[in-house]
Amino acid sequence: MTQTTTQHFIVIGNPIAHSKSPKIHQAFAKQAKLDIRYHRQYCPDHPESFHAVVEAFFNGGGTGANVTVPFKQEAYTLCAKDGDLSEHAKVAGAVNTLLLKDGKLYGDNTDGQGLVNHLLQLDWPLQEAKIAILGAGGASRGVILPLIEAGVAHITIANRTLSKAEAMLDELCSASNIIAKSQPQSCALEALTGRFDIIINATSIGLSTQTLPLDETLSCDYAYDMMYGRDLPFLTHFQQQGAQVAEGYGMLIGQAALSFQRWTGVAVDTHLLL
Ligand code: ATR
Repeated sequence: MTQTTTQHFIVIGNPIAHSKSPKIHQAFAKQAKLDIRYHRQYCPDHPESFHAVVEAFFNGGGTGANVTVPFKQEAYTLCAKDGDLSEHAKVAGAVNTLLLKDGKLYGDNTDGQGLVNHLLQLDWPLQEAKIAILGAGGASRGVILPLIEAGVAHITIANRTLSKAEAMLDELCSASNIIAKSQPQSCALEALTGRFDIIINATSIGLSTQTLPLDETLSCDYAYDMMYGRDLPFLTHFQQQGAQVAEGYGMLIGQAALSFQRWTGVAVDTHLLL
């Protein structure tokens, strides 16, 4: 008689009730013909609570955990202290994927590569591309190395608070020779002018009713918003100028597929979910 082993996964966050990860990973598991359980795990917003949840999950035989807002930095700190980190997690300063490697906690970050994979799926040209990224928070930080690795030539980080963009790029250039060599630029949001191949909105403005102060000369062939499933004036603005646009649902699927692959070794076809 063949025995199938059920593998256990969670996504840890606060809030977490809205998370689409269980549905996405169950779809991957069906495709991979694997038996999995994937649950949403609410966690109080304290480092000790997060550590306790992670410890209990892996001690209890869990295979892999996703980490979402507000714990990605805390997961990084935990792995830096007690485990190991992938190069992408080190540079991003954040972890979205946890697993055990050689008995130790291992933190990876698949968000940036998830975005790159979605852009490649859309057939947007990344080789030698001139890209502007709006925002200098966690979402922006995590995508810079994967974009450069994908062949992007010029990156400009534009942020409402210029000093934050400058500080982020200083840190990233010290952390990664690849980033330093590509000489990314920074500027204030309203000082971003002219034409780009791709403009990516990595700010959290989509959560508010405010609009971005964009210069009227700013234009692009492709505009991407990392948010999804809501009204996104950033995309409407560039669509009206004739740009192709896409929202971040594909990035969510992309990062999930890479986490699934780290945990199970199976590369799933993400087209089926888009
Ligand atoms: P995340 O981890 O999602 O990136 P974050 O670290 O809070 O979240 O960063 C949010 C980003 O959105 C920042 O770049 C922020 O700009 P500031 O550094 O100036 O705060 C940007 N942002 C949020 N609301 C904005 C708004 N109304 N206009 C312009 N930028 C905004």
